[in-house]
Amino acid sequence: MDTPDRRNSTTQALGELCSLLGDRLSTAPAVREAHGKDQTWNPGAPPDAVAFVRDTGEVQKIVSICARYKTPVIAYGTGTSLEGHFSAPFGGISVDLSGMNRIIAVHADDLNATVEAGVTRKQLNAYLRDQGLFFPVDPGADASLGGMAATRASGTNAVRYGTMRENVLNLTAVMADGTVIKTGSRARKSSAGYDLTRLLVGSEGTLGIITEVTVKLYGIPESIVAGVCPFPSVEACCKATIQAIQMGLPVARIELVDAEHVKAFNAYSKLDLKVTPTLFLEFHGTEASTREQAETFGAIAEELGGGPFSWASKEEDRQKLWQARHDAFWATRALMPGKESFATDVCVPISRLAECVTETQADLAASGLYGPIVGHVGDGNFHVVLYCDRSDPDEVQRVKEAYGRLIDRAIAMEGTCTGEHGIGSGKVAYLEREHGPALGYMKAVKRALDPQNILNPGKNAAI
Ligand code: LAC
Ligand code: ZN
Repeated sequence: MDTPDRRNSTTQALGELCSLLGDRLSTAPAVREAHGKDQTWNPGAPPDAVAFVRDTGEVQKIVSICARYKTPVIAYGTGTSLEGHFSAPFGGISVDLSGMNRIIAVHADDLNATVEAGVTRKQLNAYLRDQGLFFPVDPGADASLGGMAATRASGTNAVRYGTMRENVLNLTAVMADGTVIKTGSRARKSSAGYDLTRLLVGSEGTLGIITEVTVKLYGIPESIVAGVCPFPSVEACCKATIQAIQMGLPVARIELVDAEHVKAFNAYSKLDLKVTPTLFLEFHGTEASTREQAETFGAIAEELGGGPFSWASKEEDRQKLWQARHDAFWATRALMPGKESFATDVCVPISRLAECVTETQADLAASGLYGPIVGHVGDGNFHVVLYCDRSDPDEVQRVKEAYGRLIDRAIAMEGTCTGEHGIGSGKVAYLEREHGPALGYMKAVKRALDPQNILNPGKNAAI
């Protein structure tokens, strides 16, 4: 794609963008590199330039210029996504939205807030705390709300509060021709027309660039009980989770942490947990209901040879526990020095969870691979962290094959190749396997909304 024509039009686009943005357009190699490569095994590719934007109007002007020169435009938030979402394989302009970090309005009475795309989840929660409100969606990283909407992110609270799919009320987005649209109102529900909000949520910057997000908020519960519950095996953890979900126990969080991850958390986050497969749990409600939920769960655990469920009574200990869980990605990196690690993600219906996890463990063992597991198991969603010495072609091959079988297994169990990390460039090959002929309709939507294929080309269902 790097033809003389393309170089020529990129140079012209850069000239116009430079007049628009001045020193907020950077072509410095280090800045371009940082905006073209994530923390994963997916290959990176730097954009031609990075635009540090201030408002929706600027994004609109940038997209209009790029549309004229057929220059790719790639949205960038905090750079914490995990499937090669923001690399620039065809060059183009990375639009860095991190400077658009204003909280525009908090409608406490309606339980929603409108923020610019660069506001991070922790920033929003710090702002809301005094009003007794919180925003629940919590991927490990302190990601931006725009990026979280674009990747349809979730995290540990999704089992109770839903993912970005359930928590975005409307979006403001710049479409491929430079038009700014708002996809909905602040009403909690609507039957008016096609649901463009849900079309853009999870579209990974391929259908529009999200510049503002209106999200749902929740009251901080009167009582929060968090704790850990050890089990004799990962299978027992999964079975306890299945029982809790099937009986309708309204867990706020239920996270599988296998023994290797417990070891990693103890070292990285200075915890002192028994090294055995463990569930991290949290219950929300009144004093009476959280106590009852914790007791009910304790009984389920005991039947499966697990327990006791120990509560973290102090807020500080609770925070420490969840921060350790959120830092899992970094904690496990230190487990096997000399090897690279790659976190992947699949999701299956809850009734198949134990089977999917245990078959995966057996497969990894038979393949001679080290792949600790951690997961948002209440949603049937789990991560395998695959370790690989990339200078050993035989191991690289075994990792790739086990990875493919993991995805096939999840799809065969009527699950998905990704519950929360998304497609990016890394899982493009699996979209067809999962969706079959429906992928053709996704591509038709892409062609209709972005006929020049300038928005994040090469990702998700974009051609
Ligand atoms: C987690 C990220 C990797 O759950 O999704 O830790
Ligand atoms: Zn996760």
